[in-house]
Amino acid sequence: MFEPQKRMEQTIFTQVDHYIESLTCKESAEISAIRKSAFRAGIPDISISPNQGQFLQILARSVQSKRILEVGTLVGYSTMWLAQSLHDDGKVVSIESDPTHAELAREHFSQSDVGKKIELIQGRALEILQGMVDDRVTPFDFVFIDADKPPYLEYFNLALQLTREGSMIVCDNVIRNGEILNENSTDEKVIGVKRLNAWLKGCDKVNATILQNVGVKEYDGMVIAIVL
Ligand code: SAH
Ligand code: DHB
Ligand code: MG
Repeated sequence: MFEPQKRMEQTIFTQVDHYIESLTCKESAEISAIRKSAFRAGIPDISISPNQGQFLQILARSVQSKRILEVGTLVGYSTMWLAQSLHDDGKVVSIESDPTHAELAREHFSQSDVGKKIELIQGRALEILQGMVDDRVTPFDFVFIDADKPPYLEYFNLALQLTREGSMIVCDNVIRNGEILNENSTDEKVIGVKRLNAWLKGCDKVNATILQNVGVKEYDGMVIAIVL
């Protein structure tokens, strides 16, 4: 699968990620239990990494988040990291369409104190988010977009309607092993994230960048945006 050069790079990225983990990563016992439970249940290994969880916590804290919105829960690994960044009066609303994922996520949240700060909404994200816009819900301070990739631009635009000046919006998986450079890619995930990335060029509603990510996961990247 990997060319020799890539395999060597992936080895060092993984080793250095573990090194960073050993120094700074505060993955709680209940959060690491979710990883193990997901593995046992045969859930695809597509959650963020421990160091990325810590990174999201830092970002969420940097904007003094009280209300966090997540699009794409899987079984709640990233959700728990985000919930842990909040004070007792904080809340994470997380959206998941897959009933099996949602059920296991609910189980994880119910087993934890931090889980009390999480509201899981089961349903298709586009409809749920549009419903929140229509209901004029209180703006979110932080949004993490990590569901299916084709509607990433729609998710981002809905997130803009659900935030305020100074809120942060983060989108996972927008570099996809560098495939975003491949103009002939027919992968709907690549096409989806490229649509968002290209749209950022002319967007005057946010101050954004894309941070490349290497580590235990495949080479990828996250949009980091502050709402203007
Ligand atoms: N944020 C998680 C990983 C999410 S994986 C973590 O890092 O731990 C992406 C998730 O999005 C999957 O569980 C998938 O079922 C869900 N998803 C896909 N399409 C969706 C949609 N239209 N609405 C809501 N969730 C969706
Ligand atoms: C996929 C989705 C993710 O959110 C992720 O972090 C990695 C892979 C996927 O659908 O392939
Ligand atoms: Mg992701």
